[in-house]
Amino acid sequence: MPGRIPENILEEILNRLDIVEVISGYIPLKKAGRNFKANCPFHHEKTPSFMVSPDRQIYHCFGCGESGNAFKFLMRYERMEFVEAVEALARKTGVNLPEDEKRDHKAEGLVTQLYKANELAALFYEENLKGAAGVGARNYLLSRGIKEETIKLFKLGFAVDRWDGLITYMRQRDVPLSILEKAGLILAKDSGGYYDRFRSRIIFPVFDIKSRVIGFGARVMDETLPKYINSPETPIYIKGNNLYGMHLAKDAIRDTDCVAIVEGYLDFIIPYQEGQLNIVASLGTALTQPQARLIKRYTHNVVMLYDSDLAGQLATMRSLDIFIEEGMSVKVVCLPEGLDPDLFVRKNGFLGLKEKIDKAESLFEYKIGILRARYNAKEIEGKSKIAHEMLSSINKLSNAVLRSEYIKLLADELEIKEEALLEDLKDFKKEPHSALTEHPQAQRKLPAINPTEKLLLNLMLEENDLISQIKENLEPADFQDERIWRIASLIFDFVAQGKEVKTNNLLNYIDDEIASEVVCESALPNETNFEDKEKIVIDCVRRMKIHRLKNERQLLHDKISVAQKSGDEEKLQGLMLQFHELIKKR
Ligand code: CTP
Ligand code: MN
Repeated sequence: MPGRIPENILEEILNRLDIVEVISGYIPLKKAGRNFKANCPFHHEKTPSFMVSPDRQIYHCFGCGESGNAFKFLMRYERMEFVEAVEALARKTGVNLPEDEKRDHKAEGLVTQLYKANELAALFYEENLKGAAGVGARNYLLSRGIKEETIKLFKLGFAVDRWDGLITYMRQRDVPLSILEKAGLILAKDSGGYYDRFRSRIIFPVFDIKSRVIGFGARVMDETLPKYINSPETPIYIKGNNLYGMHLAKDAIRDTDCVAIVEGYLDFIIPYQEGQLNIVASLGTALTQPQARLIKRYTHNVVMLYDSDLAGQLATMRSLDIFIEEGMSVKVVCLPEGLDPDLFVRKNGFLGLKEKIDKAESLFEYKIGILRARYNAKEIEGKSKIAHEMLSSINKLSNAVLRSEYIKLLADELEIKEEALLEDLKDFKKEPHSALTEHPQAQRKLPAINPTEKLLLNLMLEENDLISQIKENLEPADFQDERIWRIASLIFDFVAQGKEVKTNNLLNYIDDEIASEVVCESALPNETNFEDKEKIVIDCVRRMKIHRLKNERQLLHDKISVAQKSGDEEKLQGLMLQFHELIKKR
């Protein structure tokens, strides 16, 4: 989560705030012991499981697991970006934020180096497009109706027809080839050395929501196959987490409370250029839950734009259920034969597209239309196929009222009894609803955390004095849960720097959703009045060591039995020796 704002500023803001005051500005809070509680604003519930802790300055819902500090609350509740939330609370507390360019002087990790390499590569490709070698590419882009200013806005570029164009450019700028390889920009040759991944292609940089270049798509200028070559996934390019164009479109999506989703680069760029500003592209892959959630921060209303080949496919329709599961509304536009959004806009203009979007059909209507065209709704068999396919989507609706309304509708459509559909629906019931359900407990994704490790975490957050004792006695391998180890190391770092370990500040350093949930959950039950905390620490440490020994013994045991079976005497001897050493340790 840490953006480019220094952590000490984030801490300053949090220290001047009371999270109880912040949250009670949005929802009514009731006192409950040391904490405050409310019905969770992030999932439907009838009994409050949403807690706000004045001591820890965090919130945590024991129902859906949503948790964090004041920044996170604003991000979720107000659907703000991290930086927006920080700015809002900085204003509220009168803390001055440093200017952009002064921010962030941390040592450069891999991730930073990857961003830099991509940034520089994008610049290289842009320059190529402007130069003599880029004339053909420029003409190609212009022939596709892309204006000069659009080329600039999307930082479109050109990869020259050389095996080492980028490599040479980067060598002159001292960028290590190993970083370029990790960024997916160059590939290792079998014979040693490297070569450029993208050659003689138009370059489309892919941006994340913060406008950083995270990857590239590269298109040929003729009919050569493959049409596109793309960056592989890298530590900064996780395809299913990102949507092309979100960095430009997010404000318009929020303002219009609607987003149009298309497939391709050109299907995004041309409509955007012509005025369709609330649009994103999936880049030709099936939509994922993280993408749906990204959109959900700005709007609940999605319109899918398909050209007619895709629109007819049931698989395409099924992939839209991801939005239903998130409690969002999905509509579908099917463009006329042979026209994708790019061509459609070039033919009918922005207003033509707008009209199509305004008249989009709901997923229900749309899907049933496709099914009717495919199966005969007059015959029993056809009815049953249609019913089954529709029920699988309807079942994913988390709202019970809506579900029953759609079932009525479907019964009417197919001229069958509602009861029959309800009976069929039972077959689907095993699938959990993942969004707004009444029983979120059952579908929590939080992995089971070892209670000893959780208790230790709780003690560290509660009694800063215990931390050095814990640090001296444990090593990474003693932790079963790598996440908890990472959190513990973070806490150790705080202490090493002489800083007080406060849960709300700690959260500024934790990117991983689950890890921050674990921290909040461990921090909350602060009414544990243990008598002798030092003794409990010793006990926890001992249990963790024993557990580790047990695991190691089991592993050796398994190795030994393999060696026995294969009759490898020498290996067996060595393993037996290790085994005895281990037993002595106990
Ligand atoms: N795509 C890809 N690899 C391919 C083909 C397609 O990665 N071999 C992805 C690209 O992100 C592309 C999207 O799928 O933008 C949609 O594919 P398509 O409709 O074929 O391409 P367009 O972007 O429409 O390209 P064009 O109009 O230039 O043919
Ligand atoms: Mn196209």
